[in-house]
Amino acid sequence: MFYLFLSKVFKGFDFLKSTLVANSCLFFPQIWFRALGKNCCFQGFPRFGYAFRDIRVGNNCSFGIGIFLNCGADGYINIGNFVSLNDYTYISSLYGVEIGDNSRIAEFVSIRDNDHAYADPETLIRNQGFQGAKIKIGSDVWIGRGVFIGKGVEIGNGAVIGANSVVTKSIPPFAVAVGVPAKVIKYRQKKSNESIMQCLEVT
Ligand SMILES: CC(C)(COP(=O)(O)OP(=O)(O)OC[C@H]1O[C@@H](n2cnc3c(N)ncnc32)[C@H](O)[C@@H]1OP(=O)(O)O)[C@@H](O)C(=O)NCCC(=O)NCCS
Repeated sequence: MFYLFLSKVFKGFDFLKSTLVANSCLFFPQIWFRALGKNCCFQGFPRFGYAFRDIRVGNNCSFGIGIFLNCGADGYINIGNFVSLNDYTYISSLYGVEIGDNSRIAEFVSIRDNDHAYADPETLIRNQGFQGAKIKIGSDVWIGRGVFIGKGVEIGNGAVIGANSVVTKSIPPFAVAVGVPAKVIKYRQKKSNESIMQCLEVT
């Protein structure tokens, strides 16, 4: 009876806490970020692994639903201006994740700068800590749906990563990379002066 009473009381607190959190997201989204730029739009407010970590977001960014930002004490997440993060994207940072201006991140993308350390077979994996390195995604990068980006990867400005790719090595600027593991299949080509003139004439 007593435990039932206590559980009801604490349920009440939980309800109060979640109501406060929900309303703070609606009315004061800034308090959840170290920096949050102007004109950012949230279809759903992100979930955070830990509150009040070093997460910075620039101006004019858009967030889909179900986004999870999991930032450890020594990690950071820096998102530039005009970045879109689509539904169910997951960013986990113990070392640092940077996303440049104008980049497009499609749905179900997982960006993780750390792995479980697992080398010692006689110790539980959960007791071996983590290992990893910063991830840097440049400007005007397009990441297709379902992509995984692992520790230490740098993706150059203007690169495109095909849907469902697993990126374990850095990708040069303007490359189009696909597959598991992701390999460069081509580079985005600059239009010749002649075709640029044709485009200008049509428009
Ligand atoms: C990467 C991508 C942009 C390439 O498009 P494209 O320039 O039109 O290239 P193509 O379709 O001609 O594909 C070139 C080759 O790569 C292969 N390929 C393309 N995308 C691939 C992928 N995601 N995984 C594996 N291989 C892929 C094609 O099969 C083709 O192989 P082939 O030369 O042996 O026939 C596109 O395939 C893609 O993955 N788009 C992402 C879509 C998405 O996630 N949208 C989310 C909304 S933001």
